[in-house]
Amino acid sequence: MEVEGRVAVVTGAASGMGRAMADTFAAAGMKVVLADIEEAPLNDAAAEVRATGAEAIAVRTDVSQLAQIEALAEAAVAQFGSVHVLCNNAGVGIPGPVGDMSLEDWRWTLDINLWGPIYGCHVFLPIIEATGEGHINSTASVAGLYGGASLGAYNVSKHGVVALMATLERDLRLRNSPVHASVLCPGPINTNIVYSQRNRDPEDAAHHVRTDQGEKFWDMLKGYLAEGMDPADVGPMVLDAVRTDRFWVLTHPEMGKIARYQADAMLDDGHLTR
Ligand code: NAI
Repeated sequence: MEVEGRVAVVTGAASGMGRAMADTFAAAGMKVVLADIEEAPLNDAAAEVRATGAEAIAVRTDVSQLAQIEALAEAAVAQFGSVHVLCNNAGVGIPGPVGDMSLEDWRWTLDINLWGPIYGCHVFLPIIEATGEGHINSTASVAGLYGGASLGAYNVSKHGVVALMATLERDLRLRNSPVHASVLCPGPINTNIVYSQRNRDPEDAAHHVRTDQGEKFWDMLKGYLAEGMDPADVGPMVLDAVRTDRFWVLTHPEMGKIARYQADAMLDDGHLTR
């Protein structure tokens, strides 16, 4: 797909990979709608994108709220006339083994990480298809390919995002749609994801259950992500998928092999890899 002059909407655009996507799209000549729940960094990000000479607006959006996704779409169309590319990227993470996580932690995670992309596809697909071209990318994770220990709600949400996008792409091909779908499955990226609870309602966050297993895992993850890839390197990978209609976007292809080992073990003798 040709992207110059087209309109992109990116959620979670105030930080990390979403910010990188917004920067990359703007540099490629796209008009960008930046959406995020965190207003001050969102406005700063949009101002910085505009300072490069690109057209960009900020729309404060909580992706877990359907009405706010609808308002985001209306604002994008009102400003730029149409939408061609959507990146359902906003997401949060919190540790916890299945059985010990509070139901509030499950709901908070799934409302943002899975319902956000479901609402995004539901609201934006008809708008994008009406333009006669376009692309929807959602950010899942390697955690969408492999359900590792200590990350119950996150793994479930990201497996859901992979399933959502694979089904969407197959549905689109079945009806010869001009729109394509793809899924971003990042490995470790050095972003603010480990501080996800900064955006959570404090009353709801009070229900977070801290477990020794979860805290140990989170401390390990913090160190691992701090050494991770620069999010600026991820923006061009997503742009390339949009341009070339590639479905899988793996920032660390070697990590994708865990999916192969898991499938091999499933077919060999049915054991779960560790
Ligand atoms: P980040 O924390 O730097 O950026 C996430 C953005 O989403 C933030 O600006 C945050 O304010 C926003 N956000 C959170 N809740 C929101 C809501 N309800 N509505 C709208 N915006 C909301 O983290 P990062 O890493 O850039 O996260 C982007 C995506 O990448 C997420 O979906 C995350 O799960 C995923 N991911 C991250 C990995 C990593 O290593 N950093 C690895 C695999 C996936």
